[in-house]
Amino acid sequence: MIKFAPSILSADFNVLGEQMAETARGGAGWAHIDVMDGTFVPNISFGNPVIKSIRKRSDLFFDVHLMVVNPERKIRGIADCGADLITFHYEATSDPGACIAAIEETGRKVGMAIKPGTPVSVIEPFLHRLDLLLIMTVEPGFGGQKYIPASTARIAQARAMFKAAGLDTDIEVDGGIKRDNVDVVLAAGANVIVAGSAVYSGDVYANTKDFAEHFREWDAAHK
Ligand code: DX5
Ligand code: ZN
Repeated sequence: MIKFAPSILSADFNVLGEQMAETARGGAGWAHIDVMDGTFVPNISFGNPVIKSIRKRSDLFFDVHLMVVNPERKIRGIADCGADLITFHYEATSDPGACIAAIEETGRKVGMAIKPGTPVSVIEPFLHRLDLLLIMTVEPGFGGQKYIPASTARIAQARAMFKAAGLDTDIEVDGGIKRDNVDVVLAAGANVIVAGSAVYSGDVYANTKDFAEHFREWDAAHK
């Protein structure tokens, strides 16, 4: 089943809670929450107090994408703020296995992300320990960038690796996903779709509903 995760990075933070509620009303089940430290990526976004605050008003599944160095130090705090899934970057740590263990310890779902330049093969030792693999389809750091076409083959490669291991693990794509290219990533094997600017620019409810209806049709046609 497809899961839809609008990225709040592109929201209007003056009315963040209201806009998140619009995505829920439009049919999104997840909220994608980009935490950036200004070091792993050039940008700074928001952190624990914001997550804690939006948690009080939202029942969405909180998908926290950590773009921070030494993520192992941040995991406990993020979990305590109400994350449901915590995704760290493979490139941000010297010990991905320890990060996975730290997330497991919190009882939250485990995600690992790879940047566009990182070979997909690095995931091999961790296949069985991941609930989700996040394949970045732009360079992490900013919303509103263009989908990198070489990502499509990377999604298919990861899907084939999980399949060969007998796993049906979630594969999430993040960056440059719009209504007009989403079928490409779905066909390649992604099933968790992040969209930031495509949802949060303009009519948030209508944009969400448009994606969500399409996903329902896709799921019905690919049973
Ligand atoms: C980028 C973030 C994304 C971003 C996606 O580093 O990880 O989640 O919000 O935004 P769009 O969909 O506009 O590319
Ligand atoms: Zn993200």
